[in-house]
Amino acid sequence: MDSTHILNNEIEEQIPVNEPARQEYFMDKCHEIVEEMIIKNGKAPTFHVSTFGCQMNAHDSEKLSGILEKIGYAETEEESDADFVIYNTCTVRENANQKLYGHLGALKKKKESTDGMLIGICGCMMQQPEVVDVIRDKYRFVDIVFGTFNFYKLAELLYKRLSGEKSQVIEVLAEPEKNVENLPEKRKYTFKSGVNIMYGCNNFCTYCIVPYVRGRERSRTPEDILSEIKCLAESGVIEIMLLGQNVNSYGVNFLEDSEIISNNPDYGFPELLEDVCKIDGIKRVRFMTSHPKDLSDKLIDVIVRNPKIARQIHLPFQSGSTAILKAMNRRYTKEDYLALVDRIRAKLPDVSLTTDIMVGFPGETDEDIQDTIDVVRYAKYDQAFTFIYSIRTGTPAAKMEQLPEDLVNERFNRVLSVVRETCAETSARFEGQTKEVLVEALNDHMDGYVTGRMDNNILVHFPGDESLIGQFVNVHLDEAKGFYYLGTRTE
Ligand code: SAH
Ligand code: SF4
Ligand code: F3S
Repeated sequence: MDSTHILNNEIEEQIPVNEPARQEYFMDKCHEIVEEMIIKNGKAPTFHVSTFGCQMNAHDSEKLSGILEKIGYAETEEESDADFVIYNTCTVRENANQKLYGHLGALKKKKESTDGMLIGICGCMMQQPEVVDVIRDKYRFVDIVFGTFNFYKLAELLYKRLSGEKSQVIEVLAEPEKNVENLPEKRKYTFKSGVNIMYGCNNFCTYCIVPYVRGRERSRTPEDILSEIKCLAESGVIEIMLLGQNVNSYGVNFLEDSEIISNNPDYGFPELLEDVCKIDGIKRVRFMTSHPKDLSDKLIDVIVRNPKIARQIHLPFQSGSTAILKAMNRRYTKEDYLALVDRIRAKLPDVSLTTDIMVGFPGETDEDIQDTIDVVRYAKYDQAFTFIYSIRTGTPAAKMEQLPEDLVNERFNRVLSVVRETCAETSARFEGQTKEVLVEALNDHMDGYVTGRMDNNILVHFPGDESLIGQFVNVHLDEAKGFYYLGTRTE
C-alpha cells in the first residue's frame, strides 16, 4: 500500500456522509489549503462568479460565493483579477453556448500566463451532455465542471483539484439527488434576498429547455422556507423575492415531510405568501414567475389583503395567438389571458404587470403577431422582455419547421416598437405621485444620486447619499423617463 493510498483511506474514514456536514468538512479541508496559499503569497486567492440567465442561477451563484468565502477566497469585482473564475451558465437560448466557448477561448490565454489560476463552469448548460463532451474534448484547461443538481458540492470538487487531482474534475448528475439546506450564502444586498420556494418545472412548454436542465418540479417545505426567511429577517433583510419557475403551482411535490402540510393538505402558494407576510421585519414581498394558467383568485385576494406584497405581477404571456399558445403547450388561450388581466386589475387597480414575449415560434403568422400586439396594447405592461424564439435541441419545437430569420427579425422589431411605446406610456402614469422607494445603491451615473425601486419594481433615481441604502423613503416622482423616474425625497 503506498502512502497516498493510506492518506486516501484516512480521509475516507472521516468524511461525513450526510449533508451539509459533508460539504462543511470539505470547506474546512479547502480552507487549510487556502491558508497555506495565504502564507505563501501574502494574500488571499480571489474569485469571480459570472452569472448568466435567470434568478435561479443568480441565487445559486450567491451560494457558490458563500462557499468560496467560507473557504477563504476573497471576491473580486473584475473577472480579470480573479484566481478562480466560475461561469454559472444559462442555456435558455441557443447562442449562449457559442458565447461560452468564446469566453473560454479568451480565458485560456490568461490561464497560461497566470500561475495556479482555476476555471470552473456550472449551471444549466452543463446539464446537456453534448456541452460537457465539448468541454472535455476541446477545453481541457477548464478545471471543474458541475451541474445544477450538485452545485452545492463546489467545495468537494474544488478540494479534489486543490489536493492534487491532475485531470479535469467533472461531476454532472442527470437528476436531483438530494436537497441540501443551510449552505453558506453571500448576498449581493444586505437588505433584500431571493428565496427558492421550489426547483425545476413540470410544464414542458415546447420551446423551453428548463425542465430538462432543472428537472421536475420540487417544492421546499413551508417550514424550511419560513425558517430561512426568519433568519434573513433577523440578519436585517427587509425585502424577500420568492423564486420558482411557476410559483403558482407551489406544493405539487414536496421534498420532505412537513407538519404544516399534513395538517393542511390544501396549503399552496397563497397560504405560503400569507405566512411570509406574517414574519416580523419583512416589509416587502415579491415573487416570480407566475404562470398564467395557475394564477388563482385566491392568490389575487391574498395580495389585496396584504399591503406587504408588492403590487407587481410578472405574468409572461409569450404569444397572443391561441393557436401558437397551443403549439407552445402553454395551456391558456388569448381570451383566458385577457380575462385574467381583467380579474387582476379589477381587484388591484394600481398593479404593475410585467411580461415575457416571444416572437418567431414555428408556424407563427402575421395574424398571430397581430394577436400578440393586441395583448400588449390591452394589458398595458410597465415592462416587457421581448425575445426572439431560438431553437433548443431536444425540445419538441426544435422538430417543427422553423421560420426564416429575416421575417422573424422584421416582426420582432414591429412588436418591440409597440412594447416600447406602450410600456413608456404606462409606466409614466405615476408621475406627480409620491411613492415608497427601497434605496438599493448609489447611482452609477449621477453623482449625489441614489437609485431605488418602487414596489412595482420601477427604478427611481433621486438626490441622496449612502446612508439611505437599505431604507424605505418617500419619493416624489418628478419626471417619468420611459423605464425609470427622476424624483425628490419628501419629508
Ligand atoms: N418559467 C418562466 C420562464 C422562464 S424562462 C415562465 O414560464 O414564464 C424566461 C423566458 O425566456 C421565457 O418566459 C421565454 O420568454 C424565454 N425563453 C424560453 N425559452 C426560449 C427559447 N427557446 N427561445 C427564446 N426565448 C425563450
Ligand atoms: Fe420553461 Fe414553460 Fe417551465 Fe417557464 S413554465 S420554465 S417557459 S417550461
Ligand atoms: Fe437559464 Fe437555467 Fe434560468 S437555462 S433561464 S439559468 S433555469
